Amino acid sequence: MKFNITCIPGDGIGPEIVSQAKLVLDKVASKFGHEFIYKDILMGGASIDVHGIPLTDEAISDAKSADAVLMGSIGGNTDTSPWYKLEPSKRPEAGLLKIRKELKLFANLRPALLYKELSDACVLKKDTSDRGFDLIIVRELTGGLYFGKRETVTENGIRIATDTLTYNENEIKRVAIKAFEAASKRRKKVTSVDKANVLDSSRLWRAVVNEVAKDYPDIELEHMLVDNCAMQLVKDPAQFDIILTENMFGDILSDEASMITGSIGMLPSASLNETKFGLYEPSHGSAPDIAGMDIANPIATILSAAMMLRFSFDLNDEADAIERSVVKTLAEGYRTSDIYTDGCRKLKCSEMGQKIVENI
Ligand code: IPM
Ligand code: MG
Repeated sequence: MKFNITCIPGDGIGPEIVSQAKLVLDKVASKFGHEFIYKDILMGGASIDVHGIPLTDEAISDAKSADAVLMGSIGGNTDTSPWYKLEPSKRPEAGLLKIRKELKLFANLRPALLYKELSDACVLKKDTSDRGFDLIIVRELTGGLYFGKRETVTENGIRIATDTLTYNENEIKRVAIKAFEAASKRRKKVTSVDKANVLDSSRLWRAVVNEVAKDYPDIELEHMLVDNCAMQLVKDPAQFDIILTENMFGDILSDEASMITGSIGMLPSASLNETKFGLYEPSHGSAPDIAGMDIANPIATILSAAMMLRFSFDLNDEADAIERSVVKTLAEGYRTSDIYTDGCRKLKCSEMGQKIVENI
C-alpha cells in the first residue's frame, strides 16, 4: 500500500532522529511491499529562521493532506536561543500547540513501558522494577490551561498574570471514550486523574468520565487525585493500565512516567483526532545540548513510527516487526549513551538506527 507521510524534523536532535525513523520505515516498506512518500515541512525554530513564524498556513495544509505526520522535536535552549526573545505566540512551542489545535488532535497517547532489558537503567527500587509496568497515559491535548484565555496586566503598579482552565463536557467525553477504547484492548482498567477536591473543571471531568464509563461495564474505573498519582507512579506503577487526564496534568505525569522507564529517550507518542489521522512524536524534547553530535537515542521516534503504522495505517504486522527489532537490538546489548550500562555496547544515533534496520 501507498501512504503519504508529512515529516517535521524540527529543531535540536529532531532531524537526526527523524532520519533514522525514515530509514526504518524504508526497510519496512521494502520488506512488506509498501510505499511511504515523505514530505518535510518546517515547524518550530526551523520555521522561525526561514519564515519568522513557527508554523505557516502552507505547512498546516501539507500536514492536513497527508495520511499521518511524523515529528522529531521542536524548540531550543530557552536561556540562550534568540527564538525565546520573541513574543510567546511566535516562539517554537506555539507552532506545536497550533498544529495540535488545527489538526484537532485531542487525544495524546503516551505509553510508558519498562523493557526488561533496561531494568538496570530504571531509577525505581529493585523490587518495583522487577515487577515491571506497562501503562499508557491518555492526555487531553487541545483544551485546559494550554488553550484558555490568558493575560498579563499591571494594576496599581502590580503585575498580574492569569491563565484559565476551561473544559466543556464534549471535550472530556471524547477523550474519555478514547481511554476506555484503549483499555478494552488491554488490561481493562482506567484510572482517571483529576484534582476534584479543589477544581470545578475536575469535578466536571469526574462526572463526565463516570457517565462515559456506563457504556463500558467490563472496564474497571477508578478516580485518583493528581498529587497522589504522582506519588503512586514512583511507588507502584504496575497498578496502572490506562491513566486518563487533562492537558496540564498529563504533561507533567507523562514526563514522570517516562523517566521511571530509565530514559525519556525510549518513549513514543501518538496524538489522534476522531479519524485515523495522527501526529506521532517522541515524548522527549529537542535536547539542544547534544544536537548534531549523533549521540541522541532514536528509539522513541522509531517506536512512534511503529505507532503510526498501527493506529493510522492499520499495519499491525509491520508495527510488530519494528517493536520486535527494538527489543532484539536491546537484547543484543546495544545502547545509546542515555541508556548505557556497564557491559553493553555503546552506539551512536545513526548506528542504533542501522542496527534496528538490520534486525527487521
Ligand atoms: C510535550 C511538551 C509540550 C507540551 C511543550 C513543548 C509545549 O512538553 O509535548 O509534552 O507541554 O505539551
Ligand atoms: Mg511535556
